[in-house]
Amino acid sequence: MNNGQMGIPYNDAIQMVDLKAQYYRLKQELDTAMQEVLRNAHFINGPQVKAFASHLANYMDVAHVIPCANGTDAIQIALMSLNLQPGDEVIVPAFNYVAAAETVAMLGLIPVLVDVNADTFNIDIHKIEQAISRRTKAIIPVHLFGQGCDMEPIMRIAEKYNLFVIEDNAQSIGASYKFSSGKTKRLGTIGHIGTTSFFPSKPLACYGDGGAVMTTDDSLAERLRLIANHGQVKKYQHKIVGCNSRLDTLQAAILDVKLKHLDEFTQARVQVAERYDSAFFHLSDIITPYKPLYTSHIYHQYTIRIKNGKRDALQEWLKQKGIPSMVYYPAPLDKQEAFRIHARKSGNLMIASQLCKTVLSFPIHTEMRDYVQDYIIGQVTQFFN
Ligand SMILES: Cc1ncc(COP(=O)(O)O)c(C=O)c1O
Repeated sequence: MNNGQMGIPYNDAIQMVDLKAQYYRLKQELDTAMQEVLRNAHFINGPQVKAFASHLANYMDVAHVIPCANGTDAIQIALMSLNLQPGDEVIVPAFNYVAAAETVAMLGLIPVLVDVNADTFNIDIHKIEQAISRRTKAIIPVHLFGQGCDMEPIMRIAEKYNLFVIEDNAQSIGASYKFSSGKTKRLGTIGHIGTTSFFPSKPLACYGDGGAVMTTDDSLAERLRLIANHGQVKKYQHKIVGCNSRLDTLQAAILDVKLKHLDEFTQARVQVAERYDSAFFHLSDIITPYKPLYTSHIYHQYTIRIKNGKRDALQEWLKQKGIPSMVYYPAPLDKQEAFRIHARKSGNLMIASQLCKTVLSFPIHTEMRDYVQDYIIGQVTQFFN
């Protein structure tokens, strides 16, 4: 395979996410933005950080965006802002990246693991109430793979039990939730606080680590800002215990360029997903992504379920053909050694366990060429025939 005909140096190997090809497509804009930072040498809290935060707030239609060092810090800062006490419980999905449960446990709080819905991979709204105890203070719905949790019932439960909601939107920035009234809102702006990650492979990504916290609440925003900056009200005056979590100016400049292309990135991935969907629809061993009406899907991952125990054999077959694929996630959090002690399980978490044995994510990114995807589809089809 050779993508050289597009004038883009394209690595022959198929990638899960092709960051190089995307860089070359946006090279001029990105290089100009990066050069400006280098010329001004204002590497920490430079003007690009403020500009990006303001542009992102505009895009998200949220009052406050507080940039920080990564998506894990974003959740930690959000939790720190809520005045929770050691031993308080926070509900998190069992089928998930480690960040939410990890930050909860790190702050002396208890992650309560709740099972997910088999079709959407997101927290099962019917299993949240039974996980609530007198110590429960917050829920972290995680919008996995590019589509949203069912936020309306989650917010209703939160109101009923007086809980905070922190939306972990690391994988779904740009997607929207549709309320039963027909009104839509960006994911990450519905709960009390939203968090995100700008890790290089994320939907809105920089060239290193980065993250952000967002909220419409002015007083929470003030606390979040203080916490991300050593709890400092002015130089060497520390009002509360905070941490040091900053988005570098260089990363902000890159993100500000990429934000302008975010909807176009989403569209490109949706097209790839639709081509996979129509190719796999007739394969009886594959369950293609389920799309509930309440959320859009921006396909951070294209994740399917493979029936009849064939997942690992398919992955091995694809590997032999030079096609990468990933298992997100190979083990539910209750099976991770760290969380056997530091988490409380709510129910048997059966769906999370099953998904870990059946899910497989395929290459999807903004630079996918049809002929590369045709090759992937051809190999998958051949495996099942
Ligand atoms: C759902 C989710 N939350 C949080 C994070 C943490 O982000 P970061 O790697 O920027 O700390 C990730 C990153 O993979 C993620 O996928």
